[in-house]
Amino acid sequence: MKLPRNFFKPLAIGAPAPLRELPVKLERMIHFVPPHIEKLRAKVPELIAEVDVVLGNLEDAIPADAKQAARAGFIAMAKAKDFGATGLWTRVNALNSPWLLDDVVEIVGAVGERLDVIMLPKVEGPWDIHYLDQLLAQLEAKRAIKKPILIHAILETAEGVDNVADIAVASPRMHGISLGPADLAASRAMKTTRVGGGHPQYKVLADATPGDGPRAAFQQDLWHYTLAKMVDACAAAGIKPFYGPFGDFSDAQACETQFRNAFLMGCVGAWTLHPSQVPIAKRVFSPDPAEVAFARKIIEAMPDGTGAVMIDGKMQDDATWKQAKVMVDLARSVAAKDPDGAARYGF
Ligand code: GLV
Ligand code: MG
Repeated sequence: MKLPRNFFKPLAIGAPAPLRELPVKLERMIHFVPPHIEKLRAKVPELIAEVDVVLGNLEDAIPADAKQAARAGFIAMAKAKDFGATGLWTRVNALNSPWLLDDVVEIVGAVGERLDVIMLPKVEGPWDIHYLDQLLAQLEAKRAIKKPILIHAILETAEGVDNVADIAVASPRMHGISLGPADLAASRAMKTTRVGGGHPQYKVLADATPGDGPRAAFQQDLWHYTLAKMVDACAAAGIKPFYGPFGDFSDAQACETQFRNAFLMGCVGAWTLHPSQVPIAKRVFSPDPAEVAFARKIIEAMPDGTGAVMIDGKMQDDATWKQAKVMVDLARSVAAKDPDGAARYGF
């Protein structure tokens, strides 16, 4: 077992000290860009103002013969513009692929000081995080990088789900975890062909009542168990949970519903794979102004956060005060980023 006192020591001489707290950042959407496509790369300067995180994708959806072009495109994209407060992430190829080592060595070597987070796919257990952790420390030391590059794991294998609590605490570099429903479905041999969302056949049927006509059927959420397990692992470790991709770009309502379930459950953001999903994520992962107004009432009525009061007929106490604080803190960070947000919340 690693000694607690060594947990926050750099893993290579000359690497920056690991962070003890995550940077406070609004990350409502992680927007995916395929960096080998020049036309889409050219839109990145506009995107920086629109989204919270820009991610250059090197893994799935990038054809094998474009892997090197995507890596070079990401480096060009990272150099071309200052990203300011907008996050700059990349999703590298999986650890068992022929591309991962060059992805990490070349990208950190070229633009390591600009990179906030590396998203690592198909994480099976803490050993995967330990490998990347050590490699990053060596590369940071070599380039004298001052700010540690963080790691975000995708939860998309059955073994990963089994080990999620250990993955979440594997390193002080852990930024968060995203649910990857497409690979997870394949890994579990689920009988679906979708990227996230529900399935019309996954339902509960109401009891039959003689003479009452057709029985009602209620579609259930295929992802509830995994998302809840992941949120608990992340919250316990002090890192951030995200819902991942929603593949049916033609169904904005279903995307919004999936994102909202994740938000209510504790997730801080989701992936956006298509520009139409950006406003959905912005809307869903910014708290509702009416809820924020009510949360502010709770905080004002209980200035020291203790005791019990009634507001609009509803009992409030220390626990609802804490819920209210989550909501108001999030609203403040939305307002700090976006002047419309400040007006909506009345700050
Ligand atoms: C994401 O990578 C997924 O497999 O859903
Ligand atoms: Mg995947």
